[in-house]
Amino acid sequence: MSLKGSDFISAVGMDRKEIESILALSEKMDSSFTKKEVLSEMEGKFMASLFYEPSTRTQQSFGSAMKRLGGEVIGFSDPKTSSHSKGETLHDTIKALEAQVDLFVIRHPSEGAAKLAAEVTNVPVINAGDGSNQHPSQAMLDLYTIKKEKKKIDGLTVLMIGDLKYGRTVHSLSYALSKFDDVKLQYYSPPQLKMPGFMLNDLRNDCKVEELSSLDVSKADVVYATRIQKERIEDPEEYKRAVYRIDNEVMEKMKKDAMLMHPLPRVDEIAVEADLDSRAKYFEQERNGVPVRMAIISSILK
Ligand code: NCD
Repeated sequence: MSLKGSDFISAVGMDRKEIESILALSEKMDSSFTKKEVLSEMEGKFMASLFYEPSTRTQQSFGSAMKRLGGEVIGFSDPKTSSHSKGETLHDTIKALEAQVDLFVIRHPSEGAAKLAAEVTNVPVINAGDGSNQHPSQAMLDLYTIKKEKKKIDGLTVLMIGDLKYGRTVHSLSYALSKFDDVKLQYYSPPQLKMPGFMLNDLRNDCKVEELSSLDVSKADVVYATRIQKERIEDPEEYKRAVYRIDNEVMEKMKKDAMLMHPLPRVDEIAVEADLDSRAKYFEQERNGVPVRMAIISSILK
């Protein structure tokens, strides 16, 4: 299935073929990225990067991906500097820019914002994170990183830890993983930050799902830690109760060939000492954001 001209809003409706085609193209982009090449396939094309929420990796790697493909980037990283601060709606901002660009990349605090944007314009829209809902490009770079390290995705056990309620990365990653064969998803979180029930029900249709009652990292091929989404939790006490930490002691219990991942930014979830363990793959994961986003942009626009 071709992504040409499509929006990229959610991992929910993606199929295995689509995911595999992005992963295959990411591999090609990776060799060009490694050589620090700048390609010309997006010459004359413009991307609007509209970030209504803070971002380091996602925004920069989408921008750098577009530029490495030879394209141009406009937009804002702080909505206070845009007409949003004068009361302009997302709808009107999209309308203001659609004639100028070939692609929108949008991050927004409201669930459904990217979908709404996609409904008001014919220009393709990539969801770079909508509230606590979805973050599909992150899921693609997560899968790419897993595949690069483990040489496969089928048959893996993936344990996701932390804020599974508000963390959009685990939502997208779970749906994307569920399209592969014999995947087992394990979840461990404070009781108030569990995976949404409707997602667990959806996922159970496609793969094995297990909610753990203690932090048992011993069975997982991939341990995926996430930040407690402080900005989405109203009660500061609830935030304090949810804080956890993976350090060398926890890592000792992981399989020898397991991977420790994190979408970043980390706060206290992973002790800095863990960075030295060769199973820590989060900086590699972060780096992979560029070639994977080159592949997503190219699949949509080429
Ligand atoms: C994540 C996000 O924005 O959802 N960051 C990212 O894009 N790599 C994770 C987070 O903010 O905790």
